[in-house]
Amino acid sequence: MKSYNIALIPGDGIGVDVIEASWLVLNAVARRFGFELASKTFPWSCEYYLEHGVMMPADGIEQLRPFDAIFLGAVGWPARVPDAVSLHGLLLPIRKSFDLYVNARPHRLLRGVEGPLRSSGFDILCIRENTEGEYSGAGGRVHQGSTNEVAVETAIFTRNGVERILRYGFEAARKRSGKLASVTKSNAQKYSMVFWDEVTDALAAEYPDVKVSRYHVDAVAARFVTNPETLNVVVASNLFGDILTDLGAAIQGGLGFAASANINPAGGVPSMFEPVHGSAPDIAGKGIANPLATIWAGALMLEHLGEQQAASALITAMENVTAQRTALTPDMGGTSPTMDVANAVIKAL
Ligand code: NAI
Ligand code: MG
Repeated sequence: MKSYNIALIPGDGIGVDVIEASWLVLNAVARRFGFELASKTFPWSCEYYLEHGVMMPADGIEQLRPFDAIFLGAVGWPARVPDAVSLHGLLLPIRKSFDLYVNARPHRLLRGVEGPLRSSGFDILCIRENTEGEYSGAGGRVHQGSTNEVAVETAIFTRNGVERILRYGFEAARKRSGKLASVTKSNAQKYSMVFWDEVTDALAAEYPDVKVSRYHVDAVAARFVTNPETLNVVVASNLFGDILTDLGAAIQGGLGFAASANINPAGGVPSMFEPVHGSAPDIAGKGIANPLATIWAGALMLEHLGEQQAASALITAMENVTAQRTALTPDMGGTSPTMDVANAVIKAL
């Protein structure tokens, strides 16, 4: 029987609940589709930090490397560990070490879920560059505290970095609607975004079957609200993608539904799948977190592993549950605990 090795990192707060619930669901899918999911759980979290002084051991990355994928809950406990420590000690090193340069997030309304917009027929896949651009971390400050203080933060766009993320966008568009929206701001950013546009044009020549539209980031943000159904695959730089994907999560009903894949398409390293939300200290320990974002991230993981049929069946099962509107966590307007929603999905399978 085909078997996959998955590294589980539940993390903190509701991360623990949603991983536990989603893992049961994923195992149910695996049984139905005739493959096996083996796992090892890593306790790396803020609690681990308070005990050991590090978010993960020095050889943490090497421990993760042999796995087929990483399935992560959420990391952060701001009351006891500064977010900069938890983020820079675990999530960022994983993304960086494995060069997970694609951050892909689907934005659409599951059946029965009400979003804040009148329009409900949208189906957007946002592809955000995940390693460079505006978040490269190149910069500095001088004359700190004085009136002459200067802060500089330089966005770095490399040809390799821009080309590979745009290429992933073209490939994704080819597999879906054949439509690609490239997010730019070349009217104002005359170096980096003009370069981005040039690379987009060069690739467009290689993909004559893909229809490319170029949108300025401000205009496309408005379009997410006014005409989201006109968008399909959207490819953007790190900062632009960060902002647009939060907007995407909002229009799909909120953080309870937003799933994320951090992918290195070249393979040979584990890609990482996670919900977009954090550890939600306000509802942690109550067992009422919505597990659907994490289950959806699990479906993205199955798709990445090549189990396309199982991934589709899982999404269909999720939608049967949301359409019935019987198992609903409080953020969906119900009173069901996390496990009830997970069990309903298993039943729907
Ligand atoms: P958050 O996403 O944890 O929570 C924001 C709001 O959404 C809260 O009211 C929460 O109850 C609600 N919420 C989030 N997920 C939910 C779910 N599955 N079901 C129902 N309600 C849900 O963001 P916040 O509060 O800003 O951050 C808390 C901690 O999480 C911080 O330490 C932050 O750094 C960390 N964080 C970690 C992320 C990660 O591991 N990738 C991503 C975002 C935040
Ligand atoms: Mg964000």
